[in-house]
Amino acid sequence: MNKNDHIPVLSSEVLDALHVKKTRKYIDATLGAGGHSSLILAHGGSVLGIEADNQMIEIARANLGQVGDDFVIAQGNFVNIDRLAKENGFTLVDGIFYDLGISSLHYKNGRGFSFENEDEPLDMRLDTHSQAVTAADLLNSLRRDQIEEMLGAGMELGEARRMAILIWKFGEKKKYRCVRDLVAALDGMPRMGKLHPATKVFAALRIAVNSELTNLTESLPRAWELIKPGGTLVVISFHSGEDRIVKQFMGNREKPVVPSEEELEKNPRARSAKMRVLRKEKNEI
Ligand SMILES: C[S@@+](CC[C@H](N)C(=O)[O-])C[C@H]1O[C@@H](n2cnc3c(N)ncnc32)[C@H](O)[C@@H]1O
Repeated sequence: MNKNDHIPVLSSEVLDALHVKKTRKYIDATLGAGGHSSLILAHGGSVLGIEADNQMIEIARANLGQVGDDFVIAQGNFVNIDRLAKENGFTLVDGIFYDLGISSLHYKNGRGFSFENEDEPLDMRLDTHSQAVTAADLLNSLRRDQIEEMLGAGMELGEARRMAILIWKFGEKKKYRCVRDLVAALDGMPRMGKLHPATKVFAALRIAVNSELTNLTESLPRAWELIKPGGTLVVISFHSGEDRIVKQFMGNREKPVVPSEEELEKNPRARSAKMRVLRKEKNEI
């Protein structure tokens, strides 16, 4: 895996929103390859980086060089942000940042995140130590209506039903083991606009395997409790399911910040990014 393949999204907008200054404390709830954390550190902030995936932690360590007093890494899930913050002395912080979903590096990490790598096991767990259920386990155990419900979170209902029937029928004949099986199950599905039919199915499956929407819903209020009066919560989401949760939590009606044309030219992955910001009033506890 190339350590430098991941370009941090909306980086200057994130730094501005967090008001990064010397001696201020921040939590990066989705450390990834450490792109945003390294910018916060370079501007004098100290950072607790939370990351579920051990492989990403190794990459972040390599990218960030020495992990000193200003930078602490905690392996774990951001659903437990309150505990991880306490254990590492990062209660009452100036800002908390989430860059949701997975890193572009995940598509090459051998755990079946991409439909293009057909030989890989259909795993998709971010944390292979504490999560027991893989993507293959889910497909081998869910009923047709449950598969449909899982897919329905990310696509139109008729489409979810057609996909669920194909996936379930294939599963009656053969157990799901690797990426090739799911690609074969979807064989013959027409493209969804420009998208390969497997794109949304793989995303929905990953979101379900990692309980991404539940974890986000439970994490945001815990994060808010850790922020000082005057501090900031910044969240970048990449699809409507995530953005709905962020918008509902923040209760703001302002338009999200989106990448400029210039950024999109350099980093097409930023295409669907939406950044929302919530500042804690100075007199709010
Ligand atoms: C989009 S990437 C972050 C990239 C990072 N900002 C950078 O510049 O390198 C999201 C990261 O969050 C991690 N992640 C996703 N959900 C998580 C969760 N619930 N708890 C902890 N880490 C999570 C993923 O493993 C992934 O590495």
